[in-house]
Amino acid sequence: MPSALPDGEPVPHDGALPASALAGAAARPLGFYLHVPYCATRCGYCDFNTYTATELRGTGGVLASRDNYADTLIDEVRLARKVLGDDPREVRTVFVGGGTPTLLDAADLVRMLGAVREEFGLAADAEITTEANPESVDPAYLAALREGGFNRISFGMQSARQHVLKVLDRTHTPGRPERCVAEARAAGFEHVNLDLIYGTPGESDEDWRASLDAALDAGPDHVSAYALIVEEGTRLAARIRRGEVPMTDDDVHADRYLIAEEVLSSAGYDWYEVSNWATSDKARCLHNELYWRGADWWGAGPGAHSHVGGVRWWNVKHPGAYAGALAEGRSPGAGREILTEEDRRVERILLELRLREGVPLDLLRTEGLAASRRALADGLLDPGPYEAGRAALTLRGRLLADAVVRDLVD
Ligand SMILES: C[S@@+](CC[C@H](N)C(=O)[O-])C[C@H]1O[C@@H](n2cnc3c(N)ncnc32)[C@H](O)[C@@H]1O
Ligand code: SF4
Repeated sequence: MPSALPDGEPVPHDGALPASALAGAAARPLGFYLHVPYCATRCGYCDFNTYTATELRGTGGVLASRDNYADTLIDEVRLARKVLGDDPREVRTVFVGGGTPTLLDAADLVRMLGAVREEFGLAADAEITTEANPESVDPAYLAALREGGFNRISFGMQSARQHVLKVLDRTHTPGRPERCVAEARAAGFEHVNLDLIYGTPGESDEDWRASLDAALDAGPDHVSAYALIVEEGTRLAARIRRGEVPMTDDDVHADRYLIAEEVLSSAGYDWYEVSNWATSDKARCLHNELYWRGADWWGAGPGAHSHVGGVRWWNVKHPGAYAGALAEGRSPGAGREILTEEDRRVERILLELRLREGVPLDLLRTEGLAASRRALADGLLDPGPYEAGRAALTLRGRLLADAVVRDLVD
């Protein structure tokens, strides 16, 4: 959840949605994203809506504190119940993300999940994930999460090389994420993900291969690999501008992506979204699939985004303002937009083209279809699915996914 918020129309004080958003809801899956906006220290590359204790000091008093955060977030889950009214849906996925969710007590995360269960009910096979920083968990913590109903965990490994972790300002040591996977398995987690970043200044091809090998040796059933994005306004961007660390270029990113695909696919991890690989369909992240397929999700927490039936809204960013709104019985929503048919068409193309299954060609207009034929001729789209009416990226297409999608939405 990047930290910049769009403009939009105001959200009503009670958070009410237009009737059109709730129409036909029973047929759509519902997920919950629970944001935890705290980190022990801020990584120099990170632009997410998260705050260190120092950054919060003097900016929101007790309201912004993480001590009572779980109760505040639970207030928003209760508000969601009121807004969604007699919506009969059980929740298919819950994803606790950050920030660093595991800076809170495990009991707090379990209570937050409990509020979703109490207000909505969880589907029998619900996927319940939390993100975790490797340095912030131990076997007892992981056992408490598992006993409390979490069944999937995602560790921010990023790299196996100390010099790369240092440029990223990560505080864990090489080897710790791999031990976390073993500890999570011992605690009974069936699904475990490792997040990796490639293209960090100073990282070599060999460093990247070592990171992939170390991740695979740990035996997660899911790996996410992201190209490092140098976000404006971050400490890393400033260091690159000052020439303290080199910028990596697109060719390096492409080479690293090809290495990832080669190493992961030969170890039995199949890509299902441009940045995500899993050992089986059951190991895919269902929560992210809800986002990518335009389902309904409620994002609770400061700066969190939600989408229900074509209405997208986002919360105020600061934990103090967020808690203040809920304490006064108001929705923490800062703005919203009601998506037009055209917005939804474009969004489907943007998101679904990145999936292995691709996007139906009948979503494309004349110009987009012509662009798809060019992309096919250029080897960026796969002929088999194209014949069957879908635009699905080839490996070369995945390297150029942003450019392909730009042409297809016309
Ligand atoms: C925002 S973090 C939250 C989870 C946890 N705090 C952590 O750092 O692992 C989720 C993931 O986003 C990815 N990420 C964050 N900022 C990024 C950036 N600028 N470029 C690429 N990936 C990034 C990292 O791989 C990270 O594991
Ligand atoms: S620990 Fe995660 S969320 Fe926190 S600053 Fe680092 S990357 Fe961002």
